[in-house]
Amino acid sequence: MRRIIISALKGGTGKTTTTVNLGKALHRAGHKVGLLDVDATAPTLYKALGLAEAPQWDLDSVAANLLPFKIDGLYALTLASHYGESPAVLWDEPTLIRAMRELIHDVQWPELDYLILDSPPSSSGFMQALYDAVAGDVYGVVLVFQPTDIAVADLVRTLDFIKIKRVPVLGLIANMAYCIAPSGKQFWPFISPKAELGEVCEENGIPLLGEIPLTSAQNMIDAGFDRIASFMDDIKPLILKDSMLTKLYKAIAKRAVKTAIRRL
Ligand SMILES: Nc1ncnc2c1ncn2[C@@H]1O[C@H](COP(=O)(O)OP(=O)(O)O)[C@@H](O)[C@H]1O
Ligand SMILES: [Mg+2]
Repeated sequence: MRRIIISALKGGTGKTTTTVNLGKALHRAGHKVGLLDVDATAPTLYKALGLAEAPQWDLDSVAANLLPFKIDGLYALTLASHYGESPAVLWDEPTLIRAMRELIHDVQWPELDYLILDSPPSSSGFMQALYDAVAGDVYGVVLVFQPTDIAVADLVRTLDFIKIKRVPVLGLIANMAYCIAPSGKQFWPFISPKAELGEVCEENGIPLLGEIPLTSAQNMIDAGFDRIASFMDDIKPLILKDSMLTKLYKAIAKRAVKTAIRRL
């Protein structure tokens, strides 16, 4: 079972949408796919799957265990099945991390080719624990970002986080990369100027997996994800080297050396 984490330090980039649509595309390509919602405080995977409510867990029954539900040929599991849909989640971080570890380690999935994890947007202790929980058994991280100027800073930080955590990365999806008007004309839909995510990918040596348009037409999205799914089996996951932090330490060390030399 290949575990893929869908990740971005920025909210609203399309992680949940990607989790579901990449899952569906891999399923269309003949794979057995599970989706795990590890966005512990804002679990919306069930919504992106088209459900009004998450199937409820009955943890009071003796036989209760965390069973994935099946929808459109996909298996899925979410903490929304436990919380319900409306309450704010006020668990402290250690409790959230314990629940996340149970989801990662204790769920009996049917035989799967891919398990796609929908993650929350941060480099919090929770996210660090999530990356640590899957370390050693993860196919790779798929990053999802809009190609806007405002998103690039968060993309750079996300790449640095991945370098520090030393998890393999599969590549980046540019989501909402362009918009098509009803006339068929392409246009840029954001206030923030367009950024070249391809250049950021090149600088960091990671592949741009594909561009997905901002659209309400599901078939436009499907086509993009089908293309990505068609080469998912053959991607060589990369461990990125040299985090900003490492460079920063090197710079500090250099400065410390210079200061020491000047004192001599
Ligand atoms: N390519 C797209 N075209 C149109 N709407 C999109 C696209 N990708 C995401 N969205 C919408 O943008 C919003 C945020 O997406 P979501 O997947 O929930 O982001 P995240 O999980 O990163 O917070 C949702 O309303 C979703 O339906
Ligand atoms: Mg989400």
